[in-house]
Amino acid sequence: MRMGTSKWLFVAICSCLLVFSGGRELKARHIDHLPIYNHTLATILVEYASAVYMSDLTELFTWTCSKCDDLTKGFEIIELVVDIQHCLQGFVGVAKDLNAIVIAFRGTQESSIQNWIEDLFWKQLDLNYPDMPDAMVHLGFYHAYHNTTIRPSILNAVKRAKKFYGDINIMVTGHSMGGAMAAFCGLDLVVNHKAHNVQVMTFGQPRIGNAVFASYYGELVPNTIRVTNDHDIVPHLPPYYRYFPQKTYHHFAREVWLYNIGLGSLVYRVEKVCDLSGEDPSCSNSVTGNSISDHLTYYGVEMGGETAGTCRIVMDPGLVNYGITDLGGNFILSRDPASPLLKLNTQLENDRNPL
Ligand SMILES: *[C@@H]1O[C@H](CO)[C@@H](O)[C@H](O)[C@H]1NC(C)=O
Ligand SMILES: *[C@@H]1O[C@H](CO)[C@@H](O)[C@H](O)[C@H]1NC(C)=O
Repeated sequence: MRMGTSKWLFVAICSCLLVFSGGRELKARHIDHLPIYNHTLATILVEYASAVYMSDLTELFTWTCSKCDDLTKGFEIIELVVDIQHCLQGFVGVAKDLNAIVIAFRGTQESSIQNWIEDLFWKQLDLNYPDMPDAMVHLGFYHAYHNTTIRPSILNAVKRAKKFYGDINIMVTGHSMGGAMAAFCGLDLVVNHKAHNVQVMTFGQPRIGNAVFASYYGELVPNTIRVTNDHDIVPHLPPYYRYFPQKTYHHFAREVWLYNIGLGSLVYRVEKVCDLSGEDPSCSNSVTGNSISDHLTYYGVEMGGETAGTCRIVMDPGLVNYGITDLGGNFILSRDPASPLLKLNTQLENDRNPL
């Protein structure tokens, strides 16, 4: 464990030294085409990526949770899926103000985020991505999306939403491992379901594949933004060794790196739009990834479960009518987009705001 870590730190320090070679800004401006980073959209999507961590399924399904407010007000959930066996959670809904279907995936809920992060140092590229020669990915992340209850119910909900709302944009988001799942989902929608208006935005996402995979991904889902925050450790994992480009993980573009510049008592927040290499040495690669707290806050929004390390769910018996439980004990709560918003919703509102 130690040796691997320090080897990687050494590489990170090397990249750090290579950063200040100048000329970057000009180059970045020169290749400034797709995808375009939209700060406002990022501040909205981060709230969805945060809300999907909530464990009270009633509040989530009726969009009345404490995080289901502010910029995401009025969101209409169509499907909420909880894979109990693998401790995964995701939802699909329609954001009228964005005129888009929003899909969000929860990050890891393992007993300790430290353990999860330490494991990431050792993850192998252990799966060939189907039908993409030489593209290798992380089997665990791939399976979390492709080989669980998650994928069929997400795809089914997207189908229902499109039937009702037409061919509106699809925005896929997630934080941490949820970001990895969001990327696989976006790719799946484009490759296997002929969706042409897919946009992916992830927060604090780990690497998920090699350079060949990253390049396929970039061609197929060009409208992707991968936000990283300051010294957040997770985007540095699994490690990238710049001198072994064929053998290691490699991020896809486009990174947007959030960091602070301190000038005396003044601190400025910078949002740097990085180059299209996926591993821009002047972005998060220019610092050591050594912070978990930077992983847990994006745009001032707290990311993560209220009770870390549990895969607990809470559900009102009134929701049973909307639910399906499969053989593995997984939950799928569904709503027909054509039906009016839940009665339960109104009842809850009334209970909370007595006149
Ligand atoms: C950025 O996104 C917001 C929210 O979707 C949208 O209202 C705005 O028009 C977008 N800005 C640009 C420049 O595309
Ligand atoms: C997919 O998941 C199931 C259930 O978790 C497991 O038994 C199966 O081995 C997995 N498939 C592959 C190809 O790993």
